[in-house]
Amino acid sequence: MGEVIVHLENLKKHFGDVVAVDDMNLEVEEGEFVTLLGPSGCGKTTTLRMIAGLEMPTSGSVYLEGQDVTYTAPERRPVNMVFQAYALFPHMTIAENIAFGPMIKKWPKDEIEQGVEEMLRIVRLEGYGTRKPDQLSGGQAQRVALARAMINRPKVLLLDEPLGALDLKLRKAMQLELRGIHERLGVTFVYVTHDQEEAMVMSDRIVLMNEGEIVQIGSPTEIYNSPKTEFASRFIGEANLLHGEIRGVTENHVEVEVDGLVLFAPVRPSLSPGQKSIVSIRPERVTLFASKDEIPATWQNVFQGTVESTIFVGPIARYHIRLSNGQLLLVERATTDGVLSYHPSDQMFVGWESTSNVVLAA
Ligand SMILES: Nc1ncnc2c1ncn2[C@@H]1O[C@H](COP(=O)(O)OP(=O)(O)OP(=O)(O)O)[C@@H](O)[C@H]1O
Ligand SMILES: [Mg+2]
Repeated sequence: MGEVIVHLENLKKHFGDVVAVDDMNLEVEEGEFVTLLGPSGCGKTTTLRMIAGLEMPTSGSVYLEGQDVTYTAPERRPVNMVFQAYALFPHMTIAENIAFGPMIKKWPKDEIEQGVEEMLRIVRLEGYGTRKPDQLSGGQAQRVALARAMINRPKVLLLDEPLGALDLKLRKAMQLELRGIHERLGVTFVYVTHDQEEAMVMSDRIVLMNEGEIVQIGSPTEIYNSPKTEFASRFIGEANLLHGEIRGVTENHVEVEVDGLVLFAPVRPSLSPGQKSIVSIRPERVTLFASKDEIPATWQNVFQGTVESTIFVGPIARYHIRLSNGQLLLVERATTDGVLSYHPSDQMFVGWESTSNVVLAA
């Protein structure tokens, strides 16, 4: 890693009145697995197609390996794209499907054979070369589609929701498979999905997009633990979003008043009293206590509440806690010590550390 291989500079794409991609700036390093993540219509495919050269930007530039390729034809760019609808040639064997690109480019025969063998090994389909596409499972067929793109030895592989057509179980297996392929190949992957869990599982970095713009760029843990906006906080994982106003800023913490309750959060330079703000708190950061004495003395966020519902979901249980100010709080606890049983009338306490609170602009 280190060298920038894909560089998008002030990239824009308009379709008539629709702004599909708005002033996008992004650098991807060699060997990285970067995922464009965002809701339907946010501009992911359009961005990928501009990198591939299949779509001409309205303005801005695309650089690959330091070269301005904005006006370079797709086939002359060191990239290959894998689509969701990967359509293998049904009358050709798996090996012939994979060999298709190199055949057209008239590679020497033994080089093609070697390449096909190598690709079958990388996607773990050794011995499948003589089969026809209709003799493969969905996951195997998708791996052939990958091999067909990878044999051209692109510097960058562009993948647009390649697992979209697979059922959930196969999808999860293929996510790990793809990560393995990425490691074995050492090629840069720019991946597109609207599935936040898929992005978290696979990516070195996530580029979170909304309405044609980049909302936040960071590793999965960075974006999950330090979302910069309400959108980021909502889109990745689950969060309690408490609307309030900053009441005080001291050397050690920020106090945010939410409907009569005061929450404590870490200090940040941009925060000052009077600002409307949202406190984002992940459900698994909150602990339940039967009595106040059990709560660690250093925990500053301690509130009384009642349990409105308990939902058992295997490894975790979800609790809806009604706080004394009427606010509903989602809490998730591991079920390793059992599921806590409360009656709706039971008073109990919730508590969490101030570092679990992320204060966002309202
Ligand atoms: N050829 C086109 N002509 C007109 N509008 C287009 C065209 N292609 C895309 N758009 C519009 O540009 C916006 C971005 O589309 P894009 O396909 O990039 O979204 P996406 O993030 O890939 O969405 P999805 O997750 O649904 O695939 C959308 O509003 C879409 O309707
Ligand atoms: Mg798309």
